Amino acid sequence: MRLFFGLELNPDDILAISRWRERALPPLDRPVPSANLHITLCFLGEIEARRTETLLQEASLIATRRFTLHVDELGYFPKPGILWIGPSAPPRELMELSGDARSAAGRAGIRTEQRRYQPHITLARRCQSPPPAGVEPPDFELSFSEFVLFESKGGKRGVHYEVLTRWSPG
Ligand code: 2AM
Repeated sequence: MRLFFGLELNPDDILAISRWRERALPPLDRPVPSANLHITLCFLGEIEARRTETLLQEASLIATRRFTLHVDELGYFPKPGILWIGPSAPPRELMELSGDARSAAGRAGIRTEQRRYQPHITLARRCQSPPPAGVEPPDFELSFSEFVLFESKGGKRGVHYEVLTRWSPG
């Protein structure tokens, strides 16, 4: 199963982001469906079922944190052609949570990416060019108190993400 640790967005924030996307950006060929908008903390990849028990055990040891995130930046990853929004100044709690998720994965024998974590919400894929200049900047204050393990499921109607487990402050 294809797994990743991430943060769910709440329905009001998804609506606000979707409305801004429609209003501020030119038409997109491959917009991410609104229901799929999320923040990845740590991508795990294809994980064998036998490893998931250890993974869940290790993840349960991660301290949950409450934090808010000011999403104020529109960005573009040229190689995969990803258009995203994210915080220009990610809070320490988010960076620590991502680091802890990475460490938990490591202790469960799962190798993760070593690149610097760049928190983002992917808005569209396969964009040929960066967004035009002068776009109304994003301005969203998002609050989080829990993190989740997502399974990425592919189907006839495209990919969707299912929450397998959720960790909230006790
Ligand atoms: P993306 O949105 O920037 O593509 C589920 O696929 C989530 O995991 C997405 O948020 C995706 O990030 C991320 N993801 C997919 N493949 C990845 C990879 N090889 N390395 C890091 N993150 C990946």
